[in-house]
Amino acid sequence: MSTSPSPHLPALQGDTVGSLIASGTQLLQAAGVAFGHGTTNAFDEAAWLVLWRLGLPLDAPLGDDIDSVQNQAVTPAGQALVATLFAERITTRKPAAYLTREAWLQGVSFYVDERAIVPRSLIAELIGNGDFDDWLGEHTQQVLDLCTGNASLAVLAALAWPEVQVTGADICPDALAVARINVDRHHLQERITLQQSDGLDHLPGPWDLIICNPPYVNASSMAALPDEYRAEPVLALAGGSDGMNFIRHLLHAAPAHMTENAILVLEIGNEREFFEASFPQLPVFWLETSAGEDQVLLVTCDALSRFLSS
Ligand SMILES: C[S@@+](CC[C@H](N)C(=O)[O-])C[C@H]1O[C@@H](n2cnc3c(N)ncnc32)[C@H](O)[C@@H]1O
Repeated sequence: MSTSPSPHLPALQGDTVGSLIASGTQLLQAAGVAFGHGTTNAFDEAAWLVLWRLGLPLDAPLGDDIDSVQNQAVTPAGQALVATLFAERITTRKPAAYLTREAWLQGVSFYVDERAIVPRSLIAELIGNGDFDDWLGEHTQQVLDLCTGNASLAVLAALAWPEVQVTGADICPDALAVARINVDRHHLQERITLQQSDGLDHLPGPWDLIICNPPYVNASSMAALPDEYRAEPVLALAGGSDGMNFIRHLLHAAPAHMTENAILVLEIGNEREFFEASFPQLPVFWLETSAGEDQVLLVTCDALSRFLSS
């Protein structure tokens, strides 16, 4: 069967899972869609869309899934459903997760829709790998996930550290509605409290650990974002002219909301240059992630206090 989503695009071809994925890969490449919301390339994205649309399992590494279903026949009705999904992905440019209503981070499933960004924070892998556990201890009881959005980091923190209480805070009621779905999905109502707050305004703490993936994209990068990122809430991404608007407020307010041995783990994406221009004397530790050594930093309450009083 050959089903074309638009007169301007090649048709999706195939009557098996494998051939639909191969054809879908070509279609996504030809359409020039952007990746970065759970996949990094056309093949993985095509596999995700085909498997999800056909109701086939997605919860193992994609390669294993595909090997076992590669030659499985797909009915003409199934082919049409897959073609419609690819057409939607290409014409709307929405990230796949907004179409499937699900994203995965560290092997954990999260509900997503357009009210919150698609989970992809690098802090997730640091939590999963225990990369800043040496800074934690029995004193770590109250954890704040500031800018919680979809609550993915709050959920991963609660799962990683069974003894802690987590608060997920966000300024946006729509994002908090998505957060609520994810807290309920993982049955963490007793461990995670959700709170609306502009920065730390309604979050007196004191906190033993603050994790934060804030809006940090600078204005010129915002202007160049692919449509897939424009499908996400601007409030979640835009950080002002140098990306530091939210971060400047946060670093000045944070020590008054932290316990003596507390730390702040902060994602800043590609904005290290702007960060160092804003805080040249602040001693921070850069935490290595799959995206490199300068996208997430750790700063102690002590260092922040000294910096503010100098
Ligand atoms: C980059 S998203 C992070 C979402 C989630 N933590 C994640 O990593 O997927 C940033 C979040 O910050 C929220 N936000 C923006 N300005 C804020 C503010 N002044 N106070 C609190 N939250 C804010 C946005 O609504 C958005 O949900």
